[in-house]
Amino acid sequence: EKTPSPNQNAVQEQDGSRQLRSKAWFDNLANPDMTALYLERYMNFGLSQEELQSGRPIIGIAQTGSDLSPCNRHHLELAKRVREGIRDAGGIAIEFPVHPIQETGKRPTAGLDRNLSYLGLVEVLYGYPLDGVVLTIGCDKTTPACLMAAATVNIPAIALSVGPMLNGWFRGERTGSGTIVWKAREMMARGEIDYQGFVKLVASSAPSTGYCNTMGTATTMNSLAEALGMQLPGGAAIPAPYRDRQEVSYETGLRIVEMVREDLKPSDILTKDAFINAIRVNSAIGGSTNAPIHLNALARHVGVELTVDDWQTYGEEIPLLVNLQPAGEYLGEDYYHAGGVPAVMGELIKHDLLNTSAMTVNGKTVGENYTTATIEDDKVIRPFERPLRERAGFRVLRGNLFSSAIMKTSVISPEFRQRYLSNPNDPEAFVGRAVVFDGPEDYHHRIDDPALAIDASTILFMRGAGPIGYPGAAEVVNMRAPDYLLKQGISSLPCIGDGRQSGTSGSPSILNASPEAAAGGGLALLKTGDQVRIDLKKGTADILISDDELAERRKALEAAGGYVYPESQTPWQEIQRTYVGQMETGAVLEPAVKYQRIAQT
Ligand code: FES
Ligand code: MG
Repeated sequence: EKTPSPNQNAVQEQDGSRQLRSKAWFDNLANPDMTALYLERYMNFGLSQEELQSGRPIIGIAQTGSDLSPCNRHHLELAKRVREGIRDAGGIAIEFPVHPIQETGKRPTAGLDRNLSYLGLVEVLYGYPLDGVVLTIGCDKTTPACLMAAATVNIPAIALSVGPMLNGWFRGERTGSGTIVWKAREMMARGEIDYQGFVKLVASSAPSTGYCNTMGTATTMNSLAEALGMQLPGGAAIPAPYRDRQEVSYETGLRIVEMVREDLKPSDILTKDAFINAIRVNSAIGGSTNAPIHLNALARHVGVELTVDDWQTYGEEIPLLVNLQPAGEYLGEDYYHAGGVPAVMGELIKHDLLNTSAMTVNGKTVGENYTTATIEDDKVIRPFERPLRERAGFRVLRGNLFSSAIMKTSVISPEFRQRYLSNPNDPEAFVGRAVVFDGPEDYHHRIDDPALAIDASTILFMRGAGPIGYPGAAEVVNMRAPDYLLKQGISSLPCIGDGRQSGTSGSPSILNASPEAAAGGGLALLKTGDQVRIDLKKGTADILISDDELAERRKALEAAGGYVYPESQTPWQEIQRTYVGQMETGAVLEPAVKYQRIAQT
């Protein structure tokens, strides 16, 4: 059966020199033997020679969903609607698996797999006859992995979010995935619920297919994929089971075929302006501290200069508008009904805070897509004049402890401020005694040990938790106070570390410290008992010892063979440790950065 695409020849007509890259496989007159081999194998499941040689765009569906990745599993269903869209627009869909990443299932940490998934997807997008790709995003690291790969290869690409789960409920109250576990643990410790009650309460927060319904890393990264222009407008926040999710899947399929005809590529969309927009949106939504790592990584693969300081420069002053747990009260369904990402972007545009000329996947600019978007429920998305918090972005700190670390200062509680930041002569600085842990196991083992003499003036340090030390970087920097302090009413101590922090935790930690101890950063020289000074106003964090003593300690550390961390347990752990950079610069595989726009001829 012959179903010619309406715009079949548009690619050649618009630009005589350009042709679909899949033609090199399926219709290569210079190499008829290979063409025949490619054709017969892609025909063996039912595609016809006519289809493959008709000049129709071949569209990959990069499938991140599987039984192993429940957050993204609904993409197996959505892909059916994507295929229908691709077919209706005159393209041919080819679906293939992406290395799974499940945030809650992968040991030692899902962070380890972002770059592996990236690497695998680059190879697929480059090495097979694909003219464009639909990136099925969702669970935390699946989004950056897919975007980074599309950026490196630079064929037309569009992201499709799987959508958040429905709201969780328990006894009439919203329970948010990821965040409820902190509360449930405290309830079990107080004897209010038993173990079965604990599991039931935690499970109530995940009532349907989809990703975490809180403002964790998943909601953050899916929102930012839209803010960057890589998703159809309004596509990020639709809950996974809603019918609108099926609709946008179909539209995504239609649109990617047009993008191939227009040759609209990631490099046309992922400009510096787009990244600045995403930084601003990240503050306004109360986005995860993982966002700078992932966006800095993406920027490096697409060849845009983006630094950790840009996050403070463009993001720090932006107020928090989105009232989602853990910072606020509501969940994913509420976010969608309140207007989702368009409402937030419309509000920022009103205050002249977005680069409205930035291009997006629908072929229109940010200004064209979002200027008229309005807030539909101002309890959930606050107007700019009535924010949840002022200055919701990140502050960058540096000193002899590290060359950079970030802190979300807006989550500092009044008690914390009173205890640490109330010296009238020095209102945003404090000095504390360091207690140092080497990795999460050491911390769990020793936190309640009275010999550490932890008190209200202690600063807890976590090192050995960065991309090399704990391969992939563990989400362990926010540490609880020891039980005996909890009983005195002191629940949170300042925490600093070279690891990450879960996007679903609201602690005011200083994290993502680079370089990490395992890469010879200043944290490796720190000793329990050292005095450390933090100055939030100046943005400094220093061990209060002389440069001479620091140099002595460094000499001693080097003589002892450097900072010791656990051995690798898998081949990938070793390979990643060999080539990974620091979080400040995205924790990318450094040798990969020079391969940019590799599909461009
Ligand atoms: Fe997958 Fe939260 S664990 S999105
Ligand atoms: Mg996480």
